[in-house]
Amino acid sequence: MEIFKTIKNILPIFLLVVLVFAPFLVLSKEEPTIYAQPENVEITGEFTDNPFSRRYSVVNGQKNTVKLIFDNKGTLNYTINAVAGALVNKDNPNEIYRNLTAAKYSLKAPSMDHVELPYYFYAEFPPQELDIILFVFFSDDEKRQFRGVGYNGTVTIVDPEHSLFDLQL
Ligand SMILES: *[C@@H]1O[C@H](CO)[C@@H](O)[C@H](O)[C@H]1NC(C)=O
Ligand SMILES: *[C@@H]1O[C@H](CO)[C@@H](O)[C@H](O)[C@H]1NC(C)=O
Ligand SMILES: *[C@@H]1O[C@H](CO)[C@@H](O)[C@H](O)[C@H]1NC(C)=O
Repeated sequence: MEIFKTIKNILPIFLLVVLVFAPFLVLSKEEPTIYAQPENVEITGEFTDNPFSRRYSVVNGQKNTVKLIFDNKGTLNYTINAVAGALVNKDNPNEIYRNLTAAKYSLKAPSMDHVELPYYFYAEFPPQELDIILFVFFSDDEKRQFRGVGYNGTVTIVDPEHSLFDLQL
């Protein structure tokens, strides 16, 4: 008889524990660890529309292209999964001005390979100087997730120049 009494007392406690901790169990499953960029992975970015300027321009209303170059100098094989980024205050990168649309990829970047991927975005913001930060998300064959920095620098937001054709209208 005593033993049934004990089970009766323990059961509610057990259920309570499950109820209290279950949300955390679910949460930890949904948010995998994201590792920093491995040292033997180098990522660079270049604005292909104005490759020779000292400071890149982002042109309002036009497709802006950043060519990202992913250099895998390590022994692991990676898969590039996504690029996401933001325009931030150039004096305080924690202050996000606008998030940029994320792009999904499924690109193999095997050991010792060099992969190029284009990232496109549109802007429609008042002309000003902002920093742009692009993150490249990739994973290894063990499904470990990494986040590398593809671009981090100041850009000038400009309005498109009117063409002669526009002026004649
Ligand atoms: C990377 O891929 C190559 C070619 O498929 C394979 O031979 C090699 O074992 C892989 N390396 C690792 C660390 O999985
Ligand atoms: C940008 O995205 C982050 C993370 O999703 C969010 O917390 C933040 O509010 C967004 N900021 C702006 C300005 O949209
Ligand atoms: C971007 O560059 C700035 C200045 O060099 C640096 O303080 C900041 O940590 C960098 N941000 C990222 C995400 O790497």
